[in-house]
Amino acid sequence: MALVVLVANQKGGVGKTTTAVNLATALAAIKRRVLLIDLDPQSNATSGLGIYSSKLGSTYELLIQTRNLSEIMLTTDIPGLTLVPSNVNLIGAEIELVQVPDREKILKKSIEPYRDMFDYIIIDSPPSMGILTLNGLVTANGVLAPLQCEYYAMEGLNQLVNSIKRVRSVLNPGLRIFGVLLTMYDKRNALSLSVENDAREMLGEKVFNTIIPRNVKISESPSYGKPVLIYDVKSVGSRSYMELAREFLEKERKYGWRKN
Ligand SMILES: Nc1ncnc2c1ncn2[C@@H]1O[C@H](COP(=O)(O)OP(=O)(O)O)[C@@H](O)[C@H]1O
Ligand SMILES: [Mg+2]
Repeated sequence: MALVVLVANQKGGVGKTTTAVNLATALAAIKRRVLLIDLDPQSNATSGLGIYSSKLGSTYELLIQTRNLSEIMLTTDIPGLTLVPSNVNLIGAEIELVQVPDREKILKKSIEPYRDMFDYIIIDSPPSMGILTLNGLVTANGVLAPLQCEYYAMEGLNQLVNSIKRVRSVLNPGLRIFGVLLTMYDKRNALSLSVENDAREMLGEKVFNTIIPRNVKISESPSYGKPVLIYDVKSVGSRSYMELAREFLEKERKYGWRKN
């Protein structure tokens, strides 16, 4: 049964989409069956895989319950990686779902019949704490939070931790924090080191040893519609995401993330 990983942080531009796409690709590269769900109306995970529109539907149709998952999921150019695309319609979901009972549980229910088809379901979330991210938090076994090595990095993280606590107490008691991932790290910049020190001091083992450096290949790859692992497999960006996948699997075993 798939382990569901929500990539989340209430700040924008911290590396959520990059991490969701490249962790999904790295896991697929080591022969895991991966479903990537794009839960952000900005659809960067979708376009980042070279898909610009889908007549078949998107996460929007999933949430308003006019299509089921098998109707909208797409195979990608990457063997083992399946995508549930997003599109801009998803902006409307917030308002359209207001009257729907149990609206925060729709995503969870809609993936339930398909969980055995995959080893991992990775969800990319928008930078806000609305109904979309809430559906992600209710569905996930755990959260992976990218932390950009910049000013105020810890603020977004504190907000996320508070949301996780609230969701645990009522909607998803088993929700874990899989880990915090330092992204866009620049070792020439003292700020990166200071964010790293703060994060490791506050969060200890929750911070992945793997660090994602600031790397131009990572920032170029989305405009080619490719994960960096496909765009330039030898780049430091690619290697760091492969390392993240390995560390993730190691921690999954060590901490028994698949057990309740
Ligand atoms: N490690 C990195 N090195 C360089 N650029 C990066 C890196 N990670 C992300 N980016 C770029 O930074 C921007 C924001 O990243 P993104 O993953 O879209 O963040 P989010 O999904 O949190 O908004 C994008 O243009 C992305 O290509
Ligand atoms: Mg994003």
